[in-house]
Amino acid sequence: MLENLFASRVKPDEKSRLVGLFPETHYLDNISFGGGAPEEKLFPVEELKEAYQVAVKRQGAHAFQYHDIRGPEYLRQFLVERAKTLVGIPEVTDDEIMLTAGGQQGIELVAKLLLNKGDAMAVEAPTYVGALAAFDTFEPTYFNVSMEDDGADLTQFELLLKAHPEIKLFYTVPDFHNPTGITMSVAKRKRLVELANKYDFIILEDTPYRDLRYVGKSLPSVKSFDTEGRVIFLSSFSKILTPAFRLGWLVADPVVVQALTKLKLTEDLEVPYLPSATIEYYLQNNDLDEHIQSLRALYQTKMEAMMAAIDRYLPGIKVSHPEGGFFLWLELDQGIDTTKLLWENAVPEQHLVYVPSESFYAHRDRKNGMRINFTGPTYEQIDDGVKRLSKMLVENSRQKEIFVKAI
Ligand SMILES: Cc1ncc(COP(=O)(O)O)c(C=O)c1O
Repeated sequence: MLENLFASRVKPDEKSRLVGLFPETHYLDNISFGGGAPEEKLFPVEELKEAYQVAVKRQGAHAFQYHDIRGPEYLRQFLVERAKTLVGIPEVTDDEIMLTAGGQQGIELVAKLLLNKGDAMAVEAPTYVGALAAFDTFEPTYFNVSMEDDGADLTQFELLLKAHPEIKLFYTVPDFHNPTGITMSVAKRKRLVELANKYDFIILEDTPYRDLRYVGKSLPSVKSFDTEGRVIFLSSFSKILTPAFRLGWLVADPVVVQALTKLKLTEDLEVPYLPSATIEYYLQNNDLDEHIQSLRALYQTKMEAMMAAIDRYLPGIKVSHPEGGFFLWLELDQGIDTTKLLWENAVPEQHLVYVPSESFYAHRDRKNGMRINFTGPTYEQIDDGVKRLSKMLVENSRQKEIFVKAI
């Protein structure tokens, strides 16, 4: 048994939360509401192609050499400036910025920095499945903080902190939360930092959707209230430019950045040069904010199309009403198991993919919800996919009397 030689963190008997997140189906009429895919039509293909060519032409053979782990200079300066506006920290300096291989590596590095086996950490319940998968590797003891309409329940969290002062990390997605779409209120952002100062823990503020607001006004980041360097702000180019280059970035106290850089060196030695240089040249010659504007305009109409389809085919269902981001969150009758339905009905019969709720809970114990993505599918697929979802629920739910009239 080779598995006997594996480290305990691999847990050979336990399926990764990410396996099956993007099930491959071979049906031609497959519709995916699964992963957080951006709209392909809006990738700036020509501009990125040109930027890649410029990166190679300017550097010549050197473009293919090893480079500094800190990444290209102009890109770093761009991020210093972006941190001032996007994160709202006017004093940010170069030694507080770090490039990562996507936001995902940022999460994994922070977990590696802070978590010994069994260490206590708190997460929103539900929370981003990829973060849980990264934390799982370090075998923490999880504590759940429930979600309210204005973000994590901080009254409940404070009780937890009193009972478990050993909690050292809180992971949050405050803007258009993955998976529920909820945005944390300003009051809670401030209070969260006060709690971190009082109970001595670090906050990982993960915000890849922060730029993608379709309704209302942007709120100050949690990091902007940070007084003791306890907040690590994490962002990414994946949702606003392309996920293919695997480029994320974070803002943290210089001591944290130094320690994370040391850990990153052992993982991959450097930020991949050509993808980061390509993004650098793209940013020098194009207006990223203008591009983000076009994403916002399109995604808002897609979100509205999905809401309209839900009104039509799933009237009365409990659905989130996010102000931005990529996802809607559905809550179904207690007793419905959306994981079972995915494999037994949605994929084989409806040719439809979504992400079942259990993936988003640290203890995999809530089965009656699902996350659906509206940015990747076409308008036709949004309408057709929600109709298929309704069909599936008619066949498998006590709510069928309502839905059956709609399809
Ligand atoms: C909340 C959140 N964090 C991090 C990531 C990872 O993104 P990437 O590694 O592509 O930057 C995602 C991707 O969906 C996400 O939703």
